[in-house]
Amino acid sequence: MKVIACYSMKGGVGKTATSVNIAYWAARTGNRTLLIDLDPQGASSFYFKVSSVRKNWSKRFFDAYEHLVGQIKATEFMNLDIIPAQINFRKFDVMLSQLARRKTRLKKVLSGLDKEYDFIVLDCPPSIGHLAEAIFEASHAIFVPVIPSTLSERTFEQLHDFFTQNGYASKRIVPFFSMVQRQKNMHRNTMERLRRQYKRFLKVSIPFSTDVEKMGEFRGPLDTFAKSRPANKAYYALWKEMVPIIRRARYD
Ligand SMILES: Nc1ncnc2c1ncn2[C@@H]1O[C@H](COP(=O)(O)OP(=O)(O)OP(=O)(O)O)[C@@H](O)[C@H]1O
Ligand SMILES: [Mg+2]
Repeated sequence: MKVIACYSMKGGVGKTATSVNIAYWAARTGNRTLLIDLDPQGASSFYFKVSSVRKNWSKRFFDAYEHLVGQIKATEFMNLDIIPAQINFRKFDVMLSQLARRKTRLKKVLSGLDKEYDFIVLDCPPSIGHLAEAIFEASHAIFVPVIPSTLSERTFEQLHDFFTQNGYASKRIVPFFSMVQRQKNMHRNTMERLRRQYKRFLKVSIPFSTDVEKMGEFRGPLDTFAKSRPANKAYYALWKEMVPIIRRARYD
């Protein structure tokens, strides 16, 4: 079982769009996949048309994997399950701050699902705190969508610095470009510069596309309503590029 995070401390960069589409492609290509919506906004739960039934179970989230098992829901897609978010997930940082072994708790509870799933995809909230650190520990690979603009570039560099300063292996961070508008000079130049600086940027990038925005209207991954469109093909290509990286990744 491999744990994949879609993470950035910056909001609105495409973490959820990526989580939903790569979880879909993971499942579609025959892998038993669990998407965990860690963001209290619950956007990926919304896209998969699920919500959690039991309120306030989140207090036990980090105690034992058995609590997670009870919250798993099937989606309409074969091989694809989800743990939907609830608003109380906003307390995760505070909860973790009060727990011993807070960094390794998430890794531990997820390891309980080892036999059930091939991939666990974490849709992460935009923050950097105890939850983010638990995510960094738990994830084999951390995919970071980067919009090729000055602010996103800065955020990516901050994340990279955070990793090196806190002793995390920066090779676990795998960035890729999101919401790319090739007609913009700034996007092209930023991409070129960042690719030169960080060799780990994926080759595939996700174009800016109104089809991605329509996921909210159709409530599903792109392949269900925009099959032949560039954004759908880009997410499939992204997934294919991710697979060998994920398979090779080990905790270190
Ligand atoms: N490639 C894209 N092209 C156009 N719009 C996009 C693209 N990717 C995402 N969006 C839109 O941008 C908004 C933010 O995307 P998304 O929710 O995936 O980002 P996020 O990083 O998960 O945000 P948050 O930090 O709030 O969780 C959404 O309205 C989404 O529809
Ligand atoms: Mg999101």
